[in-house]
Amino acid sequence: MTLSRKPLKGMRELTPARKRVEDYIIKRLRDAGLAYGFEEYETPVLEPLELFQAKSGNELAVKQSYNFTDKGGRKLIMRPELTPSVARMVAALGELIYPVRWMSFPVCYRYERPQRGRVREFMQFNLDILGVSGLQAELDVFLVLRRIMNSLGAAPGQYSIRYSSRRLASEILGSCGMTEEEMAGAFALIDKKDKIKPDEWEELVRKTIRDERNAETIMEFASCGDPDAPWLCEAAGGTEAYTEIVKFSGMLKDAGITEARFDASVVRGLDYYTGIVFEVMDTGGENRRAICGGGRYDNLVGMFGGQKVTGVGFGLGLLTLELFLKTYDLVPDGISGKHPADIFLAVYSDEERDFAVNLAEKLRDTGVSVEIDISCKNLSKQFKIAGRKLIGYSAVIGPAEVASGRITLKNMTSGTQTECEVSEISRILMDKNLEGESD
Ligand code: HAM
Repeated sequence: MTLSRKPLKGMRELTPARKRVEDYIIKRLRDAGLAYGFEEYETPVLEPLELFQAKSGNELAVKQSYNFTDKGGRKLIMRPELTPSVARMVAALGELIYPVRWMSFPVCYRYERPQRGRVREFMQFNLDILGVSGLQAELDVFLVLRRIMNSLGAAPGQYSIRYSSRRLASEILGSCGMTEEEMAGAFALIDKKDKIKPDEWEELVRKTIRDERNAETIMEFASCGDPDAPWLCEAAGGTEAYTEIVKFSGMLKDAGITEARFDASVVRGLDYYTGIVFEVMDTGGENRRAICGGGRYDNLVGMFGGQKVTGVGFGLGLLTLELFLKTYDLVPDGISGKHPADIFLAVYSDEERDFAVNLAEKLRDTGVSVEIDISCKNLSKQFKIAGRKLIGYSAVIGPAEVASGRITLKNMTSGTQTECEVSEISRILMDKNLEGESD
């Protein structure tokens, strides 16, 4: 039997070239979090199924998940997201210094139909603030998002942070007399608005919502793109939820976050959101999946019993972000081909091998990354390997080099050669690295 060369459908298999691009993105994400004092943490990949059934809702926890019974009869799930685990961890620790600012890079699993921007195994960047009820936490989270997009070279017109409020949506739908269950159905419909054609969506709303007035309200609300719109003001003016969204809108303006815009069709698919919700979207047509989604969840931690701790944060998909960057040509040239070794040491014969191995170790002690020949092939074959790997510099260690202690550094791109003392190699390579890309 011949084994398949393909990984399971939708699973995350990254070549070193793809991994280098991902690492480039991870560095920017981590640096943005660190700039605001976020600390990194980890939670398990395998979790009890009931944790996600209770917190994320049945759609994600059962229909869209990898879940199974283990040998001990426990019902388990491969985490489809991180937020319930974060809430549990905070509830268990209790005595934390609030506000907690935490970030993590979980690999998550969802049993979905793979398509552009949607796979079954994917890495997210999660960033959450816990223990602050005011809108200042939301503002901080939006500032981090803008910093991330800026640091990756995205221009303001290329993406938008669309935001709305779950509370406001509940207020509007509740005032029509909808029950909790009907409201959940209406949220699911609103969530579909930008995923299908406008006329198909309208038809779906009319078909699903029997009461004509309620269907009109849903359509009117979901099309609202301005918190000061007369319709919205009339429908919700004077409520706490409305006052909050108007205030937040003003805070975003004052902070100069011009990429953010109110869009009532953002309600988010997960059950636990209680306040402001948001998504980062590509404003062009090519990437229709959200780059990032998040919001306020004030009741999650309290559901574990004990202290109530409020929270707000987001999950950002590394794949959706990478697709966005590629669309706008924002992955710097050469990142995917950049080999980690700074220099390749070619070895003339076995006579010089001890000297070369020693030299390589000394260079590594000073922070230089060295790949030394271990193929023991002739020099031209060794250089062919170094050239194909796109290693920046090379040097031959032969009898003359061993005798004189001087070597010739060759720039593999330009072909220029620099003769130097063995003791100078490290400094010269470091200087050259500093002149080029610092990553
Ligand atoms: P989510 O909207 O389910 O939210 O996922 C967040 C992001 O993860 C999405 O915007 C997308 O970029 C990425 N993502 C989700 N599913 C897939 C998939 N199948 N393939 C590739 N990427 C995917 C959450 O997960 C919340 N827990 C976020 C959160 C954190 N809310 C508060 N804190």
